[in-house]
Amino acid sequence: MSTNSASAAGANTAAPLKIGLGIIGFGTVGQGVWKHLAASRRDMEARLGASIELVGVCVRDPDKPRAVAIPRAKISTDPLALVDNPRVNIVCELMGGTGAACDVTLRALRAGKVVVSANKALISARGAEIFKAVSRFGGQFLFEASVAGGVPVIKSLREGLVANRFPEITGIVNGTCNYLLTRMEREGLSYEAVLRDARKLGYVEADESLDLDGVDAFQKAVILAFLAHGKWVPRNKTLVEGIRAVTLEDIQRARDFGYRIKHLAVIRRDFARGLMTLGAYPALVPLDSILARVDGVHNGISLTGDVVGTTTLIGRGAGQDATASAVIGDIVDAIRTLKGSAFKFLSSADLDSYDTLGATVRMAELEEIHTSFYLRFLLRDVPGVSAEVYRVFAEEGISVARVVQYANPGTRTGTHTLSTYPVTEAAMARALRRIRSLRTVLGPPLALRIVETRE
Ligand code: NAP
Ligand code: HSE
Repeated sequence: MSTNSASAAGANTAAPLKIGLGIIGFGTVGQGVWKHLAASRRDMEARLGASIELVGVCVRDPDKPRAVAIPRAKISTDPLALVDNPRVNIVCELMGGTGAACDVTLRALRAGKVVVSANKALISARGAEIFKAVSRFGGQFLFEASVAGGVPVIKSLREGLVANRFPEITGIVNGTCNYLLTRMEREGLSYEAVLRDARKLGYVEADESLDLDGVDAFQKAVILAFLAHGKWVPRNKTLVEGIRAVTLEDIQRARDFGYRIKHLAVIRRDFARGLMTLGAYPALVPLDSILARVDGVHNGISLTGDVVGTTTLIGRGAGQDATASAVIGDIVDAIRTLKGSAFKFLSSADLDSYDTLGATVRMAELEEIHTSFYLRFLLRDVPGVSAEVYRVFAEEGISVARVVQYANPGTRTGTHTLSTYPVTEAAMARALRRIRSLRTVLGPPLALRIVETRE
């Protein structure tokens, strides 16, 4: 612990413990945190037996008008100076990104301070380094808001469901994709039309690719995989796809087949074989499953534990208030720990056990992952073309479960949509490469995985 440690003030002294907060990043989430914390501060302080002081906030532009007012003297532009301020016990890193945010996080942890973070990009990329610093310097790193916003999935995994090992975690963790797919299906709108609305509503990240290409969901899946399995999964061992290629037609066809298309994070662990898979991709889920009914910007995560069975958490995965709720929960946990009245989240001994856990699992190769698929491709409408495609399937050992094909009037083309029985990812990748190269196949075929969710 740092010499400014709040615990140095001692829980046993008469004066209430004084906790200093430094909020780095006072945008959507940072302002939300202070808005709600300031409003509930008296109750919170009474419950915690500690007083909470906002030491300062840090931003890029101190003169920008902000909806949540704080005294100008508390606003600065040097994040490291705020981290170093001895009155700051808890650093809330709410600036985002992996550059300066990483410097801030490591500097605070090296000083033995508590860092509360909502930054999935940073944690998924530099988690190993961050937790080494926690282990070495004895601080704390809390990050409930980094996955599924206001949905307490990290607490559930770490605390409520701690008796379990997790063969499967399947979740809708990107609200933007879920909003797009939900409105396309409900209103029969095109992807482009709904995307325009999502942008207007501020749902889409400034770098749209994070949402639309599955990167955001991948980052969140990496964090959940670490918590469940002790392994930081590198991107090149995962299946990451976005929703740009999904059309209204696919959504309707999936429905005919008894499914709904959702963008999912899927983490599977085969304990017997020591294998793990991690993916973030659009997939077909059964129409009557709980996840199929998680709509709009909501998130929903099914955690399947070997003891408890499946628990599904649903709620608001993003936005100022939901995310602030998770950050404030972490701040309260941190204060309790600083008072010595709660167990320390991911303590150094605990982190050693994660290393042991992670060492017992390897990422499955594509030949070892079996999945059913939904496929769509467009063929020239001439005799024998289907036979060419089905020959590829036969040669790659792909067994077709269901087919719907129809001619597109006036174009001499036919659309084929089908579902398959489980096949390896490697065989499907080979088949798709071969089908794409057939002269009678027009445009790239679409392949979506079918996920039979556990409930
Ligand atoms: P935001 O609205 O863009 O706010 C970012 C804040 O950080 C701004 O106040 C900005 O200052 C400040 N900042 C950025 N770079 C800085 C630097 N180098 N030095 C000092 N200040 C700097 O972002 P946000 O939506 O609140 O997101 C913050 C974090 O929460 C991100 O990691 C994000 O992934 C995560 N998160 C967000 C949501 C959500 O719904 N928004 C949900 C879950 C997690 P200026 O205001 O002067 O520009
Ligand atoms: N872009 C993210 C989403 C924000 O749409 O879910 C919350 O992490």
